[in-house]
Amino acid sequence: LRASFAPRAEKQAQNFENRLQPRASTFKVAVLGAAGGIGQPLALLIKMSPLVSALHLYDVANVKGVATDLSHCNTPSEVLEFTGPSELSNCLKGVDVVVIPAGVPRKPGMTRDDLFNINANIVKTLVEAVADNCPDAFIHIISNPVNSTVPIAAEILKQKGVYNPKKLFGVTTLDVVRANTFVAQKKNLRLIDVDVPVVGGHAGITILPLLSKTRPAANFTGQEIEELTVRIQNAGTEVVEAKAGEGSATLSMAYAAARFVESSLRALDGDTDVYECSFVQSELTELPFFASRIKLGKNGVEAVISSDVQGLTEYEAKALEALKPELKSSIEKGVAFAQKQA
Ligand code: NAD
Ligand code: LMR
Repeated sequence: LRASFAPRAEKQAQNFENRLQPRASTFKVAVLGAAGGIGQPLALLIKMSPLVSALHLYDVANVKGVATDLSHCNTPSEVLEFTGPSELSNCLKGVDVVVIPAGVPRKPGMTRDDLFNINANIVKTLVEAVADNCPDAFIHIISNPVNSTVPIAAEILKQKGVYNPKKLFGVTTLDVVRANTFVAQKKNLRLIDVDVPVVGGHAGITILPLLSKTRPAANFTGQEIEELTVRIQNAGTEVVEAKAGEGSATLSMAYAAARFVESSLRALDGDTDVYECSFVQSELTELPFFASRIKLGKNGVEAVISSDVQGLTEYEAKALEALKPELKSSIEKGVAFAQKQA
């Protein structure tokens, strides 16, 4: 029995290791908040990327163990740990992509905006260091409330004279991941095929899945549209309640963030067919930031896909108008915070 299994197992192992061989171009990625609920599994997933040569893990505490543990995986990238503000600059020097999941998560009964007072300062401090040490890097903001932390980051980068709107991203990939999962389940579709654009922002009704743009095309009843939209909008709260005080989504978030990192690295590596949804500076609506599908290239956002918000159904068009006041005020809150600190 053992003998008959051996060649197969060996072949699988070879394939797995082959997939992890270094590629011609490789990149340095930093995770800020790497010892946290998202940071740890995200670091593991990034450690598996063949496009990464160095993984820099930063946190205010407990990151040494995470880095030592990860460094034993026989994948190509080198893992380096950086603890506390005195090591932040070194963590960021020469980095191509910076991912920021640092900050506090929600507990049941809280909105993402309730995190503003703590997380706004954390994001501000970290983005200041990014501006000083790796202003050309792609910056992925995960810390909530994303609808405000991305505008804060933009203002800080402007104050430092290094703002490049094409390289600042609010990570909304989890909304797409959830929409794809729930739609595939509901319509009995092959998960791998399903793609639902999610636009707007990343909180409550500002999360707007465009079910009419689902690929492959699917027909939904009015009731299905209502149920799916509400479930996607409340999916974060669904996890917060299930975790009952122990935090919010970490594993699905790490998966989604790793997908966005991998897409960014593929774009940096010259792949010309990379599309993701993200909360970015945008002229798609009258709001200065808006999540939509974007085309990623070597220099960041190459195009914002405007067709997504054209030809909306009546339900989607109404929901788009309804989300604008909340999104506008969250953006303005972030901008006002950063300008007051200047
Ligand atoms: P967590 O508390 O488990 O981890 C946060 C980590 O950040 C901790 O290790 C902490 O030490 C670290 N940290 C705190 N202050 C820091 C600082 N100044 N510099 C560096 N690191 C610092 O929380 P989590 O579950 O990983 O969630 C992190 C954030 O991500 C929360 O704000 C949460 O709301 C947000 N989140 C966003 C999405 C999204 O879709 N964008 C999804 C899930 C969670
Ligand atoms: C999510 O969507 O899971 C995150 O924004 C975390 C949260 O607070 O819901």
